Amino acid sequence: MNYQEKPRFPKNFMWGASSAAWQVEGAVNEDGRTPAIIDLNSQTKKPYADNSVAADHYHHYLEDVSLMAECGLSSYRFSIAWSRIIPDESRRVNPKGIEFYNHLINALIANHITPIVTLYHYDMPCWVDEKKGGWSDRRVIDEFEYYCQVCFENFGDRVKYWLTLNEQNMQIVYGDWLGVSKGCSDWFKEKWKINHIMNLCHAKAVIACHRMVPGGKIGPVPGYVPIYPETCNPADQIAAMNAEELTQKVWNDFYVFREYNGFIRRYWKEYGIDPDIRPQDMELIQQAEIDFIALNCYRSNVAKAADKDSEIKELQLNKSGKKGEFVYPVYPGIYALAPNPYVQTNDWDWEIDPVAMRYMLRYINDHYHLPMMITENGYGAHEEIAEDGGVHDQQRIHFLRDQIFQVGLAIEDGCEVIAYNPWSFTDLLSTGNGMAKRYGLVFVNTTDAEVRDLKRIKKDSFDWYSKFIKSNGKAW
Ligand code: BG6
Repeated sequence: MNYQEKPRFPKNFMWGASSAAWQVEGAVNEDGRTPAIIDLNSQTKKPYADNSVAADHYHHYLEDVSLMAECGLSSYRFSIAWSRIIPDESRRVNPKGIEFYNHLINALIANHITPIVTLYHYDMPCWVDEKKGGWSDRRVIDEFEYYCQVCFENFGDRVKYWLTLNEQNMQIVYGDWLGVSKGCSDWFKEKWKINHIMNLCHAKAVIACHRMVPGGKIGPVPGYVPIYPETCNPADQIAAMNAEELTQKVWNDFYVFREYNGFIRRYWKEYGIDPDIRPQDMELIQQAEIDFIALNCYRSNVAKAADKDSEIKELQLNKSGKKGEFVYPVYPGIYALAPNPYVQTNDWDWEIDPVAMRYMLRYINDHYHLPMMITENGYGAHEEIAEDGGVHDQQRIHFLRDQIFQVGLAIEDGCEVIAYNPWSFTDLLSTGNGMAKRYGLVFVNTTDAEVRDLKRIKKDSFDWYSKFIKSNGKAW
């Protein structure tokens, strides 16, 4: 990367970091929190991603916030665990849950760190799943609205940036991985019904936020993976557009225009899918005007045409951290994914593609003309404490510098970007590889096999990021 022409960042740009409750907090059975579906899902991946301790942020939050302040963060994006707030179907509010997030929010504000709060990051309480039918039952909409109202009522005086459902698109695309498809007999069709219910939850949250939080702003958090056509063959271009629609554009169009786009309506008709959209649903959705789009972006993909008579192949994520295990899917007549010879990959076969960041920001800006914030972007790696006691994550420094450079270029291209929150501040559990795939600026001394002393050690990337953000993006 050529750092000669350094892009500039706006004066009040928020430089932060990111996390999610179930991946960082631990303390799953403490102070009244009840189990969430993701706890059970993570148990099935043992020894990976067992979230009962995680980074034990629940007990280390003050230490973590003081490290954030030392680093110079001006924002911190985290999520609230629904089952800490509403532990059972009686809808009683758990005062200990409110207290924990009050303390966290107050500590952040005391250190001039703006809280950016995700309402839902994969952790539906088990009681919603068991007693209310989970994501496939419309009763979840009222329960989610109630939970959001409790959050707005208790934290809305201090939290002004709210995010609805983390990566709703990825929850649908990777339904089995994140536990959403549990109990569905025909996921191919049922996912669209679940997606519609999630859309209604998103809409309820947006409307309640605007009603209850003075000056509150709220937006969705799609996971975004730019998709390039493999060649200039027009068939590959259409395949790339199909992939874009079915993994992200259907969701983004919906959030912004508040209706289902023509592509998905035709797709549903072609495959005999009925997502159970009722007339009053669209009236509600029309009222849910978002204020910004938050974006999670790690990598890019390549798509090519797939013959109608080719054999279907499902995508398989690399769960081992040994290169070469990712299985590129084939969806006959729609699209297939393919490797990209122009970019390198990490140990999990994720493309390392900083230009994807600029592409994404320009694409979203061109289509939707809304302010954007980056809520996730990061480099997952196997890491150990070195003999000198430090953690030397040079590759992460390169990754972050290259990605931020492209954010800067996108801003110069005319995109309104208000914040950059890389994943993650401390090490935390990866969705599939637990502590074996670390993302943090701060090392947490624990492994999947053994809970250690949980000591926090600043990695080299912490020092680089700190210097960089304290200069508001001048110290490359
Ligand atoms: C995002 C999720 O999609 O990717 C996070 O919002 C997740 O929860 C992150 O941790 C990185 O993915 P993984 O599988 O490496 O943990």
